[in-house]
Amino acid sequence: MCGIIGYAGHRPAVPVVIEGLRRLEYRGYDSAGVAFARQGHLHVVRATGKLAALEEKLAHEGGVTMTTCAMGHTRWATHGAPVERNAHPHCSNDGTLAMVHNGIIENFQEIKAALIDKGYVFSSETDTEVLVNLIAEHRKTEPDLLHAFAAALREARGAYAVCLMDKENPGVLYAARMSAPLIFGIGTGENFIASDIPAFLPYTRKVLFLEDGEIVRLTASGFEVLQLADLSLATHEPQVIQWDMQAAQKSGYRHFMLKEIFEQPRVIADGLTGRVSHGDVLLRELDALPVPRRLYIVACGTSYHSGLWGRHLLEHWAKVPVQVEIASEFRYRDTLLLEKDDMVLVISQSGETADTLAALRIAREHGVHVLGLCNVVGSSIAREAQAVLYTQAGPEISVASTKAMCSQMLMLALMALYWGRRKDSMTMEDRHSVLAVLEKLPNVLAEALPEMHKRARELSRKYAQARNFFYLGRGHCYPLALEGALKLKELSYIHAEGYAAGEMKHGPIALIDPTFPTFVLALDDDLLPKVVSNLVEVQARQGRVIALVNDGVDVKADDVWNIPSLPGFLAAFAVLPAVQLFSYETADYLGKDVDQPRNLAKSVTVE
Ligand code: F6R
Repeated sequence: MCGIIGYAGHRPAVPVVIEGLRRLEYRGYDSAGVAFARQGHLHVVRATGKLAALEEKLAHEGGVTMTTCAMGHTRWATHGAPVERNAHPHCSNDGTLAMVHNGIIENFQEIKAALIDKGYVFSSETDTEVLVNLIAEHRKTEPDLLHAFAAALREARGAYAVCLMDKENPGVLYAARMSAPLIFGIGTGENFIASDIPAFLPYTRKVLFLEDGEIVRLTASGFEVLQLADLSLATHEPQVIQWDMQAAQKSGYRHFMLKEIFEQPRVIADGLTGRVSHGDVLLRELDALPVPRRLYIVACGTSYHSGLWGRHLLEHWAKVPVQVEIASEFRYRDTLLLEKDDMVLVISQSGETADTLAALRIAREHGVHVLGLCNVVGSSIAREAQAVLYTQAGPEISVASTKAMCSQMLMLALMALYWGRRKDSMTMEDRHSVLAVLEKLPNVLAEALPEMHKRARELSRKYAQARNFFYLGRGHCYPLALEGALKLKELSYIHAEGYAAGEMKHGPIALIDPTFPTFVLALDDDLLPKVVSNLVEVQARQGRVIALVNDGVDVKADDVWNIPSLPGFLAAFAVLPAVQLFSYETADYLGKDVDQPRNLAKSVTVE
């Protein structure tokens, strides 16, 4: 999703902004641009493609190092194709204002039509160009830019994080947020505004998380945060960020994704710290909430798959009935039968996913308990949920989610054990034996990962030419089959589908032939005989099979891949890195941009 950074300070601003944009690259983008004022003019430089293309253009621009206030943007196309005329910043017709924007102004067509009637012309297809001209229009009757800015925003419907610059006051930036992330960084003699903290983390750790409906006016030496509704002062306590850029670097791995896959043992160890004590699970964040009568888990993509997996544990250990829903469906359900004792759990790595946030708000309107499971501290979901459990996976930079899923699965397992204790639905012995395995998990995985990586590399070379893939699993392995297929398609662009193995004969098996391989999750559990039957059915149609197995499983397949044996549901923690590594190696072998797959964004802050 688009990335924004604005800077006012004492350093050459354009290099600060370019570096900030580089640290926001993980959000995904297809063009980039910067704006700064010099000699009474606003200069806007934009380029399609990667930041290097923008830097190339800036190299031919004079005086770039002289300015100490600038703003920049990486665009992920929503309104209009990813071409230069649609790249940000956008200027008002009179050339006095420039704006960068993340989000979607829903009523921009209406506003655009009214502005065209007044003689405005538009050179892009964006809603942003409409908004900046609306501000210019308000400024005709309201010369104070802050008031004109607020008046225009009050007319706009939808989601936005915006930053605005005025050629008359080149050291001042204005920014505002509504349902899209925007964070203010407080430095010494310099201030920042950005979509995410890494953009300015080398300069300051002191931040303010802006709320929806707030405007900030900032210069090098000061700032004020105001309410959009009446421009009254908003009060905020600055927070100090503890993590550093080191945590967000590649640490010698070829890609962030590989590093993040290999971080999973550490993620599990960190997630258990302080949450398990003397054979019991401590989730203090949940102590004040009742055990739900029924739990709705709502999420998107990989986080949704975590929820599907977690359902098995929550129902089995805590005996809480669970319904798992895709957020973009949940938010538009015509009938939502939520009852007083129900709880909605929203899962989101970024905490900013627009559909998940909307689902959270709908749940809150229904008056049910709303719990968030998030990775990003201070994100919108974390702030708006009634209670939040942090997954503590650390910054996830690669666009494809890996360690976040592992951390979500761990927290769901801990929740199931915690509610199981509160409901007395699980024996103490059973709880202790699960915890004993969880505590050994970081070591088991850390030892197994190098070998798994090697095997993934071998198999990827053998199967990378396939154009289609099935992933099959049953029970708690079915969500992992879905996740395996999602990872393969998003990274390598090979079409892949995850299926509940028993569904194959109801249609999909018709596709099987020697060019269409199947990845079967065949673990040693009660469902193994059923999975093996499905595997044999695929082979009977000359389908090639990779069987992911653990000790005790004796199957015939084109390729058998042994992973460590872990009991029951916890076996999933070994399946997950295997499917992640297979996709990673396949995509890398095919020369794809692993950390930033085409068309994808890390944080999906629009519908
Ligand atoms: C897949 C992936 C996406 C996200 C989804 C939800 O690798 O990363 O499917 O899982 O966009 O994002 P969050 O968890 O941030 O709400």
